Amino acid sequence: MPLVSMRQLLDEAAKGGYGVGAFNVNNMEQIQAIMEAARETKSPVIIQASRGARSYSQDKFLYHLMLAAAELYPEIPLVMHLDHGNSVETCKSAIDLGFTSVMMDGSLMPDGKTPSSFEYNVDATRQVVEMAHAKGVTVEGEIGVLGGIEDGHGAGGTGLEHVTDPDQAAEFVEKTGVDALAIAIGTSHGAYKFSRKPDGAVLKMDRLIEIHKKIPHVHLVMHGSSSVPKDLQDIINQYGGSLKPTWGVPVEEIQLGIRNGVRKINVDTDNRLAITGAIRKVFTETPEKFDPRDYLKPAREAMKKVVAERMKQFGQAGHAGDYSPISISEMAKKYSAQGVGVR
Ligand code: 13P
Repeated sequence: MPLVSMRQLLDEAAKGGYGVGAFNVNNMEQIQAIMEAARETKSPVIIQASRGARSYSQDKFLYHLMLAAAELYPEIPLVMHLDHGNSVETCKSAIDLGFTSVMMDGSLMPDGKTPSSFEYNVDATRQVVEMAHAKGVTVEGEIGVLGGIEDGHGAGGTGLEHVTDPDQAAEFVEKTGVDALAIAIGTSHGAYKFSRKPDGAVLKMDRLIEIHKKIPHVHLVMHGSSSVPKDLQDIINQYGGSLKPTWGVPVEEIQLGIRNGVRKINVDTDNRLAITGAIRKVFTETPEKFDPRDYLKPAREAMKKVVAERMKQFGQAGHAGDYSPISISEMAKKYSAQGVGVR
């Protein structure tokens, strides 16, 4: 199956009432882990790369690995998505390379740190929508500002400083024509999201429900959605790591989100934890080993286990064969028939 547009995946997810995990990658083993989990659970897949991942891998490597994934797993609908594009130029370079979906994160200025104005966000996102839709590529926008920093991108903070306003979300979608909308409800990137199991004071699921009621036709995106499970923290600490106690987003809260319009769920940290724990274990238990495959194989397996579990929990499992792909050029025609940028 060729790489498909994210819009098609999310439209199908909305029809089926499920969510789709978007997993970050930097290398071959992570892509293999996701594809194996997808095959095992029969899941459609979104694989995403941040700017940091693109520069780490010289992004051509990643792109060709994605083509290999599409060739080796023809039964899996597969999206290649740019996570947190910081500017129109970054999104353009991803589209030129062959990404089938991009995020224009205009909630921050191009430095990837400073919160922007609403007008700037609308203007930059609208430009990306026009450019992307003309090629059949999907666009995710962001309104409100997430907490934390990932790969050098982020405003920092707890994620409660700029929680999304429902009226502004509706206006933003109307003015930009984005296909999917990331909202800020108190989540943040990274392992240190909450200092206790989150309740409504720090994780604003009520706000998410309000936004969904206001714009029920819009595919919502939850960023910073790793659950940071205690067992993965424990493995790292048992084998010489030193993570401080921390809490992530409980899976049942994500499932509540999925019942209220969330179609894409971003997960990176949980996989990083799984990989690091598995590698630390090999290093500690068999310090005489030095073949990278001795620790990369268990690392890949540990990530596959986490991804397969999330695919089942988000409900995407079993849906890979529900539909045939609409090509990107076909998507471009659909957008142009509606007027570029119109939902
Ligand atoms: P986590 O750090 O919670 O995995 O979030 C990743 C993310 O939102 C990537 O955009």
